Amino acid sequence: MKGEDKGMAKLRINSKNRVSKINKEIYGHFSEHLGRCIYEGIYVGKDSPIENVNGMRKDVVDALKAIKVPVLRWPGGCFADEYHWEDGVGPKENRKTIINTHWGGVVEDNSFGTHEYFELCRQLGCKTYVNGNVGSGTVREMSEWVEYMTFQGVSPMAELRKENGHEEPWKVDYFGVGNESWGCGGNMTPEYYANEYRRYQTYVRDYSQQHMEPTGEPAILKICCGPNVDDYEWTREVLKTCFRHASEDVHGFMDGLSLHYYVFPEGWDIKGSATEFDDKVWYKTLNKALYMEELVRRHGEIMDEYDPDKKIALIVDEWGTWFTVEPGTNPGFLYQQNTMRDALVAGITLNIFNKHSDRVRMANIAQMVNVLQAVLLTEGDKMVKTPTYHIFDMYKCHQDAQLVESEIETKEIGTEEYPVPNLTESVSVDADGRLHITVTNLSLEEASEIETELDVNVKSVSGEILTGEMHEMNTFEEPEKVQIKEFNETVVSESGLKFIVPACSVVHLTVETA
Ligand code: AHR
Repeated sequence: MKGEDKGMAKLRINSKNRVSKINKEIYGHFSEHLGRCIYEGIYVGKDSPIENVNGMRKDVVDALKAIKVPVLRWPGGCFADEYHWEDGVGPKENRKTIINTHWGGVVEDNSFGTHEYFELCRQLGCKTYVNGNVGSGTVREMSEWVEYMTFQGVSPMAELRKENGHEEPWKVDYFGVGNESWGCGGNMTPEYYANEYRRYQTYVRDYSQQHMEPTGEPAILKICCGPNVDDYEWTREVLKTCFRHASEDVHGFMDGLSLHYYVFPEGWDIKGSATEFDDKVWYKTLNKALYMEELVRRHGEIMDEYDPDKKIALIVDEWGTWFTVEPGTNPGFLYQQNTMRDALVAGITLNIFNKHSDRVRMANIAQMVNVLQAVLLTEGDKMVKTPTYHIFDMYKCHQDAQLVESEIETKEIGTEEYPVPNLTESVSVDADGRLHITVTNLSLEEASEIETELDVNVKSVSGEILTGEMHEMNTFEEPEKVQIKEFNETVVSESGLKFIVPACSVVHLTVETA
């Protein structure tokens, strides 16, 4: 029976060694005008029979608030480099109807635009990350969008915003200067893009400093388009071109460099089914998810050469699984189901980000609703929380906590071609001094008994677990098949804690220390 055999592993935790802050934005999300992510998934309009607040689905917003979505990237993706923001402001009946050429060739009526995006973020209580158009937009267009969103005084764009019903400026926390400029965002070379970055970012003005009372809050943080997967040349060339001209203080010039990495079990062309896979594909998928560690480490090493003080964040603003679309759905909509395999990919990846939180300071899973590795799926007025949602729920404990030094003994399992360690982990301490341990067991057969070596005394411990057979998922017929359960089998021992992590599961322990 699954989980009967047990391996033993030591988990060493040095809670006194606070390594880095786990920025809450690592738990960020991405929503593009793609398929049923924005329309249907989030925005249904005020007149919809589906319960909504100012057009936003109430069930979806409530579920997202529960996992504390810290930041939301919008409007793309590839869509961002074809998006002209003026099309999406003003009276809805006057907004331009366009074709979404990237994603299914469907009609985009622009009923969700800048005002609706900020209303969504207001309802979610999250930070904003707007991605600008370098590929097919002008410097002026980008500059005016920033003016429209953030300028408080008297100016043409601020007046237009007021005419359109929003007196006060909004806060843009992050601004992306282009998306995938090496591909759908303009097919540029790194040198060419780097020069474009220098030019475009100049006009992403920080109006809070120039025209408003200084608030002491950080200005708009600018994100430069970084590499696709392992394109280390892109990282090096972009930094080289930008740094020759960057001032000593990079703040306000380049605050982040993005990285995109998706897990395609069978490669870009075939991808593979989201729900039908065998043990071999399970390990292949997890092996590919673990590759994220090498990517953030190696891109980080190149960044260290230019920016040893780690002022520039590595921003993994697109990550997740990418499977073949669900049978019978529009291939351009990227709608896929989500199983325990996705839960493990999320648990592994978030542990990696936590452990690299000195450099990785934001990440955005692709995408929030109904697209790729979504946390929520909708069908009409129904909504289900996917296994990935539950991982974000369990891991929210790490948001803004301090990563502490930890190390777990692992053994190699998987297949010869796609080996994986049986366990991954990360440990943090929150503002109230509680320790949070998240452990993933990648094995399909073997439970692991874990004994901690802890440098503090344990007062009490509580736990939660997400576990199931590898194919298990939540459907509209059976929405609660995969759920977080209480995990209270942890024993307080002399050296710390002892607990058994079943095969194919993710565990979160909260430890009160004496
Ligand atoms: O998330 C889907 C697409 O993947 C995005 O639009 C693009 O940036 C990436 O290639």
